Amino acid sequence: MIKYLGSKRALMPVLETLFAASQARTTLDLFTGTTRVAAAMKQLGMQVTAVDTASYSEVFSKTFIELDATRADLRELADAVASLNQLPGTSGYFTEVFCQKARFFQVKNGQRIDAVRSVIESDYKNSWMYFPLLASLLIAADKVDSTTGVQMAYLKTWSRRSSLELELQVPELLAGGGRSIRGDAIEQTPNLGSFDLAYLDPPYNQHRYFGNYHIWETLVRWDQPEYYGIANKRIDTRSNENKSAFNSKLTLPNALATVIAGLDVKTLLLSYNNESWLSRRELTDMCSRFETVEILDFDSKRYVGSQIGGYNKSGRLVGKPGAHRNLEHIVIAGQQQKVSAMVKALTQ
Ligand SMILES: C[S@@+](CC[C@H](N)C(=O)[O-])C[C@H]1O[C@@H](n2cnc3c(N)ncnc32)[C@H](O)[C@@H]1O
Repeated sequence: MIKYLGSKRALMPVLETLFAASQARTTLDLFTGTTRVAAAMKQLGMQVTAVDTASYSEVFSKTFIELDATRADLRELADAVASLNQLPGTSGYFTEVFCQKARFFQVKNGQRIDAVRSVIESDYKNSWMYFPLLASLLIAADKVDSTTGVQMAYLKTWSRRSSLELELQVPELLAGGGRSIRGDAIEQTPNLGSFDLAYLDPPYNQHRYFGNYHIWETLVRWDQPEYYGIANKRIDTRSNENKSAFNSKLTLPNALATVIAGLDVKTLLLSYNNESWLSRRELTDMCSRFETVEILDFDSKRYVGSQIGGYNKSGRLVGKPGAHRNLEHIVIAGQQQKVSAMVKALTQ
């Protein structure tokens, strides 16, 4: 999976235990990002709906959540991946903007990305393999980038992995059904239906995913946008339609309260950390319609991007390295008996 700010990788064992103890059959991952959490739900046999505004997140949820591995022709997919891996590189928009005018990838890999992405568009646009091939390309490109894990800057000197050769792998599809929805959580919530369990992992602060992962947006949309700034961000990073109510201290409380109020769900799990703008009290109040609310605390290692900082074009450090430890919290709201059983499962 790709490197991702706020990814719940370290919390997965805890979340898996909680999900299993919930005995939920229908679940929602409302800010699904990499789809790591939604995939864990699916592997527990749950019927999952995964929602996010990001185009690259939709690629992952179409691939890992919506597709059923038992119905897919994995041989056909492996052949397509093998043939894409044979393509010689060609210089195009991606090479020019992200490898020559910036240094996010080495030119040899930028050219391969250009070639592979063009053929996915020309040869697979109407194929069931379109999304899995895009997912494969995103994951392969992430393995040869030269960043700390966010795309607001690239490293001053090439990362070691950027010298590796781009190589697509066959994505590991999961058995079972699911639903992928690209859209805004506030707009989507009233139309999603009912769930046994919902997991909410909204952005924690002002850092916008659209700008932090602008290269993945462009690689998926393949629309050659105008760009600006040291990181050659898409021009529409500035537009209001790509801003999230969850990235502003002013609008976040109301946005989250609206989403929680609109959800038709029996058990709610919500992740936040000690950098987020909401207090325990505010979160508990938002969940007051549930019979009981518990908040669990976890000390987890902070995302590596903030430990080592990033550099801009002239090699100046961008942003201060943050604190090395942070506290993760999970709010669990639902029926008393269910919530107790889930919390108890963590100590067994
Ligand atoms: C903290 S990340 C989620 C990480 C995810 N749990 C994982 O493990 O990969 C927050 C996600 O919310 C998405 N997002 C931001 N604003 C949104 C909105 N208004 N509606 C839906 N998704 C949104 C971002 O694109 C990002 O993927």
